[in-house]
Amino acid sequence: MNVPIVDLKAEHAQLQEEIDAALARVVHNTAFILGAEVAAFEDAFAAYCGARHAVGVASGTAALFLALAALDIGPGDEVITTPFTFFATASTVAHRGARPVFVDIDPRTLNLDPNRVEDAITPRTRAIIAVHLFGHPADMDPLRDIARRHGLWLIEDAAQAHGATYRGRRTGTLGDVACFSFYPAKNLGAYGDAGGIVTNDDDLAQRLRRLRNHGQEGRYHHVELGYAERMDGFQGAVLRVKLPHLDAWNEKRRELAYRYNALLQEVDLRTPYESPDVQHVYHCYTVRTPRRDELAQVLQQRGIASAVHYPTPLHLQPAFAYLGLGIGDFPHAEQAAREVLSLPIFPQMTEKQQEQVVDAIYAWNSR
Ligand SMILES: Cc1ncc(COP(=O)(O)O)c(C=O)c1O
Repeated sequence: MNVPIVDLKAEHAQLQEEIDAALARVVHNTAFILGAEVAAFEDAFAAYCGARHAVGVASGTAALFLALAALDIGPGDEVITTPFTFFATASTVAHRGARPVFVDIDPRTLNLDPNRVEDAITPRTRAIIAVHLFGHPADMDPLRDIARRHGLWLIEDAAQAHGATYRGRRTGTLGDVACFSFYPAKNLGAYGDAGGIVTNDDDLAQRLRRLRNHGQEGRYHHVELGYAERMDGFQGAVLRVKLPHLDAWNEKRRELAYRYNALLQEVDLRTPYESPDVQHVYHCYTVRTPRRDELAQVLQQRGIASAVHYPTPLHLQPAFAYLGLGIGDFPHAEQAAREVLSLPIFPQMTEKQQEQVVDAIYAWNSR
């Protein structure tokens, strides 16, 4: 039996009738771009996060780009973030004409280390993007304190952390503005590309609604240059069906993660850290070992999928060569990139599937 890293077919099977009805509603109403389904999802998602506004956009990447645009971040500005994340966290900064400034991670959580941030602040720094990597919220209180003292915006990249909490508060409410991805394999995934921006700031929300739709305020009245980065109706409809299941799915991920932790206790690898301040939602269950490539190979031989998130930290990506950074600049991120391996985890994963993964790891461990 093969074990996939995620199983979207199993998730779809659970909701098929409701999803079919939701998609049919969009067709019936021909509300293909934005529309009532998107508006209803935005309200539901804002309420879920405990925030005033959610703005549906075309992807998580669009969410980051538009959030930076709405904060007027552009040429001459610097934005501090982690080098150990998906490319879009920093590419969107560069696409705005601003400069990504990387700061090394805390090797336990793999998130931006607040203790290193202040050293990277210059008169050009405008914002910090904290990524809640793999579903573990970043250490937001010290970051908020630094942002406040230096007059910086604090942006959450919550693409991997829908529903996770930090000191009792959900992601989406931990900074000035939060960016979510609803890429299909995320904890809350659409049936295509989609993203969302969450904020308590009324003016910012209004500007984001305008920027996602050609800077329009009222039909064909363009108050500024905007973009075509709207969420489409099918995605809003699917996300509305799925949102009520998110907490139960996250709970299932957490149970699977704790079971992995228990079953892997005797094995020579590092299981994921969960700070007592947070509820991790295990978008990825990512272990660490210097023998990572060998482990991936043993899993593959036994029909078990795994993935390296991420093999190259962003400061070593060819696209960021112009920043003039090199090997040794962010040692914790570099070591993580050499050692991490994400194992299969998804809410519909069976105990049998999980045991198959664990058996393969034991076989690797005794080699
Ligand atoms: C941390 C992070 N940021 C941003 C993104 C970009 O989201 P999207 O793929 O929806 O554009 C992703 C996901 O792919 C991500 O994992």
